[in-house]
Amino acid sequence: MNFIKVENYDILSEKAAEIIANVIKAKPDCVLGLATGSSPVGTYKKLIEMNKKGELDFSKATSINLDEYEGLDGEHDQSYRYFMNDNLFNHVNIDKSKTFVPNGKATDIPAECKAYDDRIYEMGIDIQLLGIGLDGHIGFNEPDKYFTKETHRVVLDESTIVANARFFESIDDVPKTAITMGMGGIMSAKKVLLVANGANKKEIVEKAFFGPITPEVPASILQLHNDVTVIYSEN
Ligand code: F6R
Repeated sequence: MNFIKVENYDILSEKAAEIIANVIKAKPDCVLGLATGSSPVGTYKKLIEMNKKGELDFSKATSINLDEYEGLDGEHDQSYRYFMNDNLFNHVNIDKSKTFVPNGKATDIPAECKAYDDRIYEMGIDIQLLGIGLDGHIGFNEPDKYFTKETHRVVLDESTIVANARFFESIDDVPKTAITMGMGGIMSAKKVLLVANGANKKEIVEKAFFGPITPEVPASILQLHNDVTVIYSEN
């Protein structure tokens, strides 16, 4: 594992964007595994800047996102599809028909999950970008007695609902369930890049990457991946 501690969020974002840009430059038709949440916003800003300057071309790239709230459609401003359009896709020359986010409004969730996994394994993810939750979740793989391999429906932990309430008008508006890529999909990525910032993430980052590998700390499974970069900034 490559653990990089940096001074601040701007440097974190710069470094993360550089790693992703190098993947796109080496393989223009790459598959990007993408994440939402506050952590990657700076990375997306840097990627947009590179694209606007003509240094980075997304036209042949495909993307597949980690997760989506159940019950929200892509028009909902707190859906992860909306987030991705707003924070990246609307500002770069990616072909939106090649950007995938689980369908939170799917009527047949098991079929949606199966189709999502089929797509992941058929395309193959070149780089998976991740954030980490305060309880150690990646995607919405919450602490559990076991790691779940497949894309699946999850009931969100109370701590995740509380943490994500900042994006909604009230905590009651935060969906209680979501669809998430499973650990199999995440671990199948050729490269994994996890970004975490803030003093409140210090403890969980230490546990996840320097503690025992356990489904009680979902991100700890990444210790078993052979190409993981973690960039952490306390500020
Ligand atoms: C988002 C996701 C989540 C977040 C995590 C951290 O697609 O999969 O695992 O990465 O909740 O969120 P932030 O970055 O907002 O602290």
